[in-house]
Amino acid sequence: DGVTRRDFLFIAAGATGAVGAAAVAWPLINNMNPAADVLALASVEVGLNGIEVGQAIKVSWRGKPVFIRRRTAEEIKEARDVDWHTLPDPQDDVSRVHKGKDEWLILVGVCTHLGCIPLGTAQGEPRGDYHGWFCPCHGSHYDTSGRIRKGPAPKNLEVPTYDFANDTTVKIG
Ligand code: FES
Repeated sequence: DGVTRRDFLFIAAGATGAVGAAAVAWPLINNMNPAADVLALASVEVGLNGIEVGQAIKVSWRGKPVFIRRRTAEEIKEARDVDWHTLPDPQDDVSRVHKGKDEWLILVGVCTHLGCIPLGTAQGEPRGDYHGWFCPCHGSHYDTSGRIRKGPAPKNLEVPTYDFANDTTVKIG
């Protein structure tokens, strides 16, 4: 009689333990599905209305700075006049912007050397020898296409995935 009762208690305790484990597992599983607010950060919509030709802004996307420059005709010409095959990280300017939207240059604002944020976005900041961005950490110069032209950085500034939702809004990510 006593043995049966003990077995019952043992089984009951085991069953409770299993339910408890399942209840604890749920929040862990849910954490693997990004919550709505995390998904929202995966892409960011930016209004382009206030950006004049020749101006640039900095926004934050997935915790990184993103530069959006509305290039002047001269800046586009400068980016396209160079023989890009000879550049350290050879890329055509055309491949770094969207077709028909050549004035909009959108870049991840992280130097490809050791990750500093290059200067040149805010008015008055040095833009380097090639008139794009200048990384003050070890002196990398980026051009008006965000391509590395001089200094220790091995790669061009990265172009993030983006799409123009309409003429005045771009969705990054
Ligand atoms: Fe930009 Fe070194 S981190 S030059």
